[in-house]
Amino acid sequence: MTATATQPKTTYRYQSGFGNEFATEALPGALPHGKNSPQKVPYGLYAEQVSGTAFTAPRGQNKRTWLYRIRPSVVHTPFKAMESGLVRATPFDEVYTPPNQLRWNPLPEPPAGTDFVSGMVTIGGNGDFNTHSGHAIHLYAANASMQGRYFYNADGELLIVPQKGLHIVRTELGVLEVNAGEICVIPRGIKFLVEAPEGVLRGYICENYGSPFRLPDLGPIGANGLANPRDFVSPEAAFEEQEGDFQVVAKFQGQLWSASIDHSPLNVVAWHGNYAPYKYDLKLFNTINTVSFDHPDPSIFTVLTSPSEIHGTANIDFVIFPPRWMVAEHTFRPPWFHRNFMNEFMGLIYGVYDAKEEGFVPGGCSLHNCMSGHGPDSATYEKAVNADLKPHYIDATLAFMFETRFVTKITKFAAESGTLQEDYYTCWQGLKSGFDRTWQPNGSH
Ligand SMILES: [Fe+2]
Repeated sequence: MTATATQPKTTYRYQSGFGNEFATEALPGALPHGKNSPQKVPYGLYAEQVSGTAFTAPRGQNKRTWLYRIRPSVVHTPFKAMESGLVRATPFDEVYTPPNQLRWNPLPEPPAGTDFVSGMVTIGGNGDFNTHSGHAIHLYAANASMQGRYFYNADGELLIVPQKGLHIVRTELGVLEVNAGEICVIPRGIKFLVEAPEGVLRGYICENYGSPFRLPDLGPIGANGLANPRDFVSPEAAFEEQEGDFQVVAKFQGQLWSASIDHSPLNVVAWHGNYAPYKYDLKLFNTINTVSFDHPDPSIFTVLTSPSEIHGTANIDFVIFPPRWMVAEHTFRPPWFHRNFMNEFMGLIYGVYDAKEEGFVPGGCSLHNCMSGHGPDSATYEKAVNADLKPHYIDATLAFMFETRFVTKITKFAAESGTLQEDYYTCWQGLKSGFDRTWQPNGSH
């Protein structure tokens, strides 16, 4: 593989392009040519196909990869149900979800030895993994690497949004090095582990039960803009040849399952196909915004979308609010007050979000469900209506949103843990009436 302009300076090697038909081998000649399943595979490997869509999905959406591995995935002892901790799945009926605006502080420090899987806590979700619609939202806080255990999720793909700590994500298809400010996506079924070389891992996970994330159509924006395809990278093949007493943890039907395995399942020496983990540096997002007046709808900041069967109504969109210039004239520049059909879960990776003065902190999150009014807090409103509208750079901040068509129902943990901010509603109570019946137009509006 040739290096590309987007090749990060790490020891890990990547192939660039969103959803490309990749081909990679960790040993010379390991990848069979001209056929997918030769009678004898080079190096004595096994051939195995993993398909991420129905065999007959249209070519433009069809996803599959051929793996050439030391042992096939079928080699393990039977799975047994294991304690799922605070991981939850549909139907999310533990508690009622109120129409209130909801906001949470970050998860508390986890006990020593907590790894990525044991550090996962479900905040909420919607839809039904059995009908491949909706999603779950998990937070994670960990301080240890996964050692001798490997995870895969049959219920959906995982969009991982790190908030703190370097994440070394070792997958069947190769290694991704992911920092806060980057995202990675692990397709449904792909095994991986996460290492914590800095002793801390924090972040957010969107478990997408629906159609795999893809780049949004650009319409009148044209052929370029928002997240550009070449900036997404997938790993080169890398394999472990290890035997020992290991564990595979599966998430299947909303439940965690465990099986023993006497070798590392990260044993793929070569692979080709378009079903692969990928990562993306959110700094590379080409942010498009108004150069005249009015804040556009937040869909202008869409990085990835999981479409539903209703055209234009996403199962989930992944949207970011990155550093950007604000130049709008005669305009209230923060996000306006609104009530939406769609349901908005937000997280903050770093900095200060432009619609909230305080309370929405990095690692925390908020949820504004269908038709629940929200918008800038009182302090932000006061500042914005009195601001001198010079060009202004919103610096050193990165917020994001999982926006979904179904109401995101919260878990018992989300409703009852001490991280829920019971006083969130007070941030708007300072919005007093400024109505003045004697007001006269002065021509400036
Ligand atoms: Fe909103």
